[in-house]
Amino acid sequence: MRGLECRIGRPVSVKRWTLLGLVLTSLGLARPTAAPAPSGPPHLILGTAWYPEQWPEERWDEDLRLMQAAGINVVRIGEFAWSRLEPEEGRYDLDWLARAVDKAAQYHIAVVLGTPTAAPPAWLTQKYPDTLRIDEHGRRAGHGGRQHFSFTSSRYRDFCRGIAEAMARRFGHHPNVLGWQIDNEYAEVSYDEDTRQKFQQWLQARYRTLGNLNQHWTTAYWSQTYFDWSQIPIPVGYQNPGLMLEWKHFISDTWRDYQRNQLEVIRAHADPRQFITTNMMGWFDGYDHYVVSADLTLASWDDYVGQGQLDPDRNGMTHDLTRGFKRQNFWVMETQPGNVNWAAVNTFLNRGTIRTMAWQAVGHGADAVSYWQWRSALNGQEQYHGTLLGADGTPVPVYFEVQQIGREFAQASEALAGTSPESPVALLHDYDSRWAIDWQRHNARYDQIQVFESYYRALRALTQAMDVVNPYAPLERYKLVVAPDLNLIPDDLARNLTAYVRAGGHLVLGPRSGMKDQYNALLPQRQPGLLADPLGGRVEQYYALDQDVPVSGNWGSGHASIWAEQLAARSPDVQVLLRYGASNGWLDYQPAVISRAYGKGRITYVGALLDDALMQAAARWMVAQAGLSPALGPVPPGVEVCRRVAPGASPGKPAKQVFILINHTAQPQHVSLPRAMRSVLTGHQAQSLDMPAYGVEVLVD
Ligand code: GAL
Repeated sequence: MRGLECRIGRPVSVKRWTLLGLVLTSLGLARPTAAPAPSGPPHLILGTAWYPEQWPEERWDEDLRLMQAAGINVVRIGEFAWSRLEPEEGRYDLDWLARAVDKAAQYHIAVVLGTPTAAPPAWLTQKYPDTLRIDEHGRRAGHGGRQHFSFTSSRYRDFCRGIAEAMARRFGHHPNVLGWQIDNEYAEVSYDEDTRQKFQQWLQARYRTLGNLNQHWTTAYWSQTYFDWSQIPIPVGYQNPGLMLEWKHFISDTWRDYQRNQLEVIRAHADPRQFITTNMMGWFDGYDHYVVSADLTLASWDDYVGQGQLDPDRNGMTHDLTRGFKRQNFWVMETQPGNVNWAAVNTFLNRGTIRTMAWQAVGHGADAVSYWQWRSALNGQEQYHGTLLGADGTPVPVYFEVQQIGREFAQASEALAGTSPESPVALLHDYDSRWAIDWQRHNARYDQIQVFESYYRALRALTQAMDVVNPYAPLERYKLVVAPDLNLIPDDLARNLTAYVRAGGHLVLGPRSGMKDQYNALLPQRQPGLLADPLGGRVEQYYALDQDVPVSGNWGSGHASIWAEQLAARSPDVQVLLRYGASNGWLDYQPAVISRAYGKGRITYVGALLDDALMQAAARWMVAQAGLSPALGPVPPGVEVCRRVAPGASPGKPAKQVFILINHTAQPQHVSLPRAMRSVLTGHQAQSLDMPAYGVEVLVD
């Protein structure tokens, strides 16, 4: 264990890189080893984004040789290469791509093919300007950037289908192609007239009659009543909340449909073993990721820290969010090798934390970690972004940290095969509620991701495993379900949640819960709507706070900030767990948290945003109520435990389990283990670990 850690503890001099290059050359890595195409993907993948179209072909061998020497076994290619793949309308040139795919195979490097539709070529947009998107101010996008197409344009989709089909016909059975990424980071929508008409048609299919729409949006307000579908606008700025929510639903369905256009044609020509994904962006809320993930084989995301250093909880939570999109393992399709180029300060990640970040991804269920990018294009907008090679084509220092990751992934690949994270606790995450609250924060400081994170941090420290899922996901397997921000609770969801509690689950609702229906209209009941009955209590009034309010009770004393709801216990068996102290008169000594046993389970309502110490006490209480214990056992602060299990014959008895321990601090840490365990990375067996700064361990029983 120590020996391995030492390697990153020492400075690597330029001379030593040169030396390493010589050693690798002498090991025969300078030329491709005569290799058959990979028989199957490794269980843990290390990848990079490679742009062979930007370089002379004579350079490819050297790139692939250096990749192989770093332990990279997958490249993602093609996703911005449309102008090379279809240099003129209808003339496809895939030969160079085929040569790149074949060449990669010679170095045992498999390929994920990106469809290039995020960057249409100039001939296309010049000849068909109607395919260009229009922004909310009515300006048409031009050539020179990317994502300048309109996501609803039928003509654009025909071109997308054409190039995707040409690629799928050529590579759908290629043994070295592992899977597909459709487009790249869906984000930009269009406000053109065609989109507006499609939105109106979409609304018509959903609501059937204008009377129905007018009623659910309460358009009697401000004379908003629609007499004809053609009168309905695309919302720009703050508009009717019903209209705004449906616009987001339309966007989500449109991206799904945009994606399906390519997905269907790829599936029609590709081996079923080839996966299909798209790269998403963590907490980005431009569309509902559960909707867009539905047709994909696996979810993937682009994990960028941007400015500063890794925040392990925030990043771990985002992995868990992504794992929840399809409730299965996922890929980190892009991550920064050191720095990005788009933050205010493009800080370089501390030495050692490229590795902790990679292992954290795996710990949270990533089966692949891929670096963006291999080498900067000599020109183009991203010249300053982090890379593994310098402009001179030789490794930069971070290459060697990635090489260490490559070695370790290879060592741990077999142990991690078939394993996934598993948790008895779910946090519920819902786009409709996020949008609804964000459009009317009522307190500018109400940041839902921070609220979500306050629950996540406190609970994960105790459980060492968390799921983040959509509220409509099956919940039976969870002992504890926490909904920090479930603003929209339509009747069907209220019934599901009540059934969960009745069957023995513990449901914890955060502030602003159960205020609205699926049309973003206020419920004609007090919060939390239909759940007020099982709760035996309700929200009397909510208050945006500009000053902290004292709270105390069973969880100790502290304060609420930003938001406080005055609760009422209406049933005699309701426990009041926290009360407000003296503040604005209205809140004084009123219940802030109430809880009630219901059916075989329990429902708890937390009406305020609590300080960290109170959140920790709340989490201890929730965990004790649900009878939960940590996945491994207590570890020092700053050390993260992740557990991946392979399902066994009976529930609770996994066929195998692997623990990944990460020291996210710059200090050494001593960790006592509950029993002697074996390190997959060193082979050593021990009952305690001395982890160096930014140390990582992978342990099995
Ligand atoms: C991603 C994008 C990549 C690259 C990267 C830079 O959002 O998918 O193509 O631009 O950012 O950080």
